[in-house]
Amino acid sequence: MIPEPLREKLKSQINQAENPREQAVNVMYEIQRHYGYLTDEGLQEAAAMVGATPLELEELATFYDFIYREPVGRFVLHVCDGVVCWMFHEGSLFDYMCRKLGVCAGEVSADGMFTVLPTACIGYCDQAPAMVVNGRFFGHLTPALIDEILEQLKTETCDLVLCR
Ligand code: FES
Repeated sequence: MIPEPLREKLKSQINQAENPREQAVNVMYEIQRHYGYLTDEGLQEAAAMVGATPLELEELATFYDFIYREPVGRFVLHVCDGVVCWMFHEGSLFDYMCRKLGVCAGEVSADGMFTVLPTACIGYCDQAPAMVVNGRFFGHLTPALIDEILEQLKTETCDLVLCR
């Protein structure tokens, strides 16, 4: 069950919308923010709140790269999979991150800190190859810079941040 304060916050958000369904993505994000990912129960509650079926919200949730239907690490490395980044060897950097963290795409590293996911162009093409991590952008990636970023993130305690 969603905690009461969160439920009240979501209800008030929904009440301000012309159509409750407009708030579907926001509601799912807020629930994800609370649990760390969008749980099955959370999805069902979100569906009930906005007047949609769980299947409708499932379709919406799986369309968005930034809604997680499985548990993720504290930091989600969304590595751009766009054409420009590919021209700058994004593919090998994606593999580099996975190898370094001992994960495949979508898995959580053993220390619970990281998940690596490919994502569509994040609008940072002039700084390709690029990635977004919990709402923060990083560009001109190289293996050395990735090592640096990962070490820096390990020292941070921030929670999953909304990023759209
Ligand atoms: S193609 Fe990677 S940021 Fe646009």
